[in-house]
Amino acid sequence: MSKNKIVIANWKMKLTLAESKKLAQDVKEKFTNFSEDEVVICPNFLSICEVNNIIQGSTIGLGAQDVFWEELGAYSGEVSASMLKEAGCKYVIIGHSERRKFLMENYEMIHKELKAVLAVENMVPIVCIGENWDERKTDRRDYVLFEQLQQALTGIEVKDNQEIIVAYEPIWAIGSGTAIEPAEADYAHKIIRLTLNDMFGEDVVENNFKIIYGGSINKDNVVGFNGLDNIDGLLVGGASLNPDEFLHVANKILKK
Ligand code: 13P
Repeated sequence: MSKNKIVIANWKMKLTLAESKKLAQDVKEKFTNFSEDEVVICPNFLSICEVNNIIQGSTIGLGAQDVFWEELGAYSGEVSASMLKEAGCKYVIIGHSERRKFLMENYEMIHKELKAVLAVENMVPIVCIGENWDERKTDRRDYVLFEQLQQALTGIEVKDNQEIIVAYEPIWAIGSGTAIEPAEADYAHKIIRLTLNDMFGEDVVENNFKIIYGGSINKDNVVGFNGLDNIDGLLVGGASLNPDEFLHVANKILKK
């Protein structure tokens, strides 16, 4: 598949501002050999502006880990898509399973967040979906993926040059230290692609969507995720906090 791949770091709430700045500096120094936005980093809200300053002049893309669905107003504690863009972000993670679990984000909220991001020119949503262990164990994965895609994306209009990233993150693999088997991820991605084909048509999915995998990717298992037809990149948590390990992961996926 000729689609350009992408490797995205989700730093979660694991770094202080000072640590985020240090890691951004390290990433800028080490990731000198990649094209524009092949590698994206998503710091916490507080660190975004400083990290944006640090990565100026590099090809590293910047993303946020969450967004609110309204544009402006009395919504204490929230940040809108256009504010994120102003701070330097092009990418926004939406509906991460940790937010679904700890912040009670539901389908309606995720759908509204997606619409808000798509309303801002040149912003790219990264919509997270994935089954939990109970759903996997009882063979309900495909249904869950179908349902989550329908709930997030139904009624969305995809403009010609709009990019949308769907991140398949099986909840039981996140932070577990063990990624799922690459062949299983490839199969789940195929289900996702077929579902999207049904919703938007094959051409739109081919041109506008990327489907990436996340869940315990590290330097030892990444090699298995390279060269699979249905995997357009990775969303990396823990392993992205070590710049050398993250560079190894990015090289394995993005370099021939
Ligand atoms: P880990 O790579 O730490 O399992 O996290 C994956 C993830 O949730 C990325 O969004």
